[in-house]
Amino acid sequence: MRIGIMGAMTEEVDSIHSHMTNVKEFEHGDRKYYIGNINSHEVVLVFSRWGKVASAATVTSLITEFKIDHLIFTGVAGAADPSLNIGDIVVSEQLYQHDMDARPLFKKHQIPLTKITFFQADPLLKEKAHRATDGLFASLTAKIPAESLARFNIRELKCRFGTIATGDQFIYSRERTEAILADVPETVAVEMEGGAVAQVCNDYKIPFVVIRTISDKADHTSEIDFPAFINEVARHYSEHIVTGMLRL
Ligand code: ADE
Repeated sequence: MRIGIMGAMTEEVDSIHSHMTNVKEFEHGDRKYYIGNINSHEVVLVFSRWGKVASAATVTSLITEFKIDHLIFTGVAGAADPSLNIGDIVVSEQLYQHDMDARPLFKKHQIPLTKITFFQADPLLKEKAHRATDGLFASLTAKIPAESLARFNIRELKCRFGTIATGDQFIYSRERTEAILADVPETVAVEMEGGAVAQVCNDYKIPFVVIRTISDKADHTSEIDFPAFINEVARHYSEHIVTGMLRL
């Protein structure tokens, strides 16, 4: 059983890489794939790159060239649900592409020729991801300087299941977020890869889960929060969750 691990940020890929043993590196399609072990599991680790096309190409190679059986995909996202705070976690219930619109041929957001709008994450992987966030806050306070946590106002964290919206746009205005919510009110987070990766996993019948740490509020403050959050905080989340999932 081979588990594919994709990270949407190079920093988290580096952190997860440090837990791998027997690592072999392969280049394919201008990406580096690392095959090795984490605990007793055989894993293939890769940086997804950003956007729908890049991440879809990466996961296609993971499936067809590197023969993974399951996929865990981590990264960051903007909060569409205002009750989510920076540092909270969303585990994908389902994902859709907010910029897909082939009307009048197909319904808004429906993927042409599939009849599918929402791609469902695997129930078992979802539960494992949620359980793997146990103890995360305590581990963060040990690794991340208190001043960084205070700057992002991270005093606790919640992990919830939810609907993730994907599109080839970095969302940095509340108006755009409100437009996404007007179409699909249950959207909790926005990002740029998950729905495309989910579509490919659906084509190949590969069970998957997408796990996103909230890095910004998907409003005018997003561009300020984003780089600092990745550098100082986010990589520790993916490391804890992925290694936790592979321990269970
Ligand atoms: N990833 C993290 N924050 C995001 C945002 N605001 N929009 C799109 N993708 C994101």
